[in-house]
Amino acid sequence: MTATELLVRAARARRDAHAPYSRFAVGAALLAADGRVFTGCNIENASYGLSVCAERVALFKAVSEGVRGFAALAVAGPRPGVTPCGACRQVLSEFAPDLRLYWRGAGGRVVGRSLRRLLPEAFAIGRGRGR
Ligand code: THU
Repeated sequence: MTATELLVRAARARRDAHAPYSRFAVGAALLAADGRVFTGCNIENASYGLSVCAERVALFKAVSEGVRGFAALAVAGPRPGVTPCGACRQVLSEFAPDLRLYWRGAGGRVVGRSLRRLLPEAFAIGRGRGR
């Protein structure tokens, strides 16, 4: 699965977005280590703060089915340059600190970044610590 193919899957998932409040539809496609692709779209709510981003929908679908290893995630928005929000970066880093991220940049070129670059020094709790 290439970055371009994953971006196509994200663009397709975007069509299912429920974004009547922001009118900003987003799609995401998450490539698991076993080759499966989990897609997501943003799902907004009349109580705005309950809305969930496309990236977290894709991740939670996968995690809820027992999947843990992830290779890459592609994001598709209404314009170039839509990247995962800070909250999604943190949630993704919980399960996939070595994730590759792809989106379309200016002129439609494919931009690839590591999650580590987008969220340096991410917060994590080492197991068995904190006491
Ligand atoms: N949104 C996403 O789904 N993913 C992003 O990467 C950026 C923001 C959603 C949240 C909200 O439903 C809408 O886009 C506008 O912020």
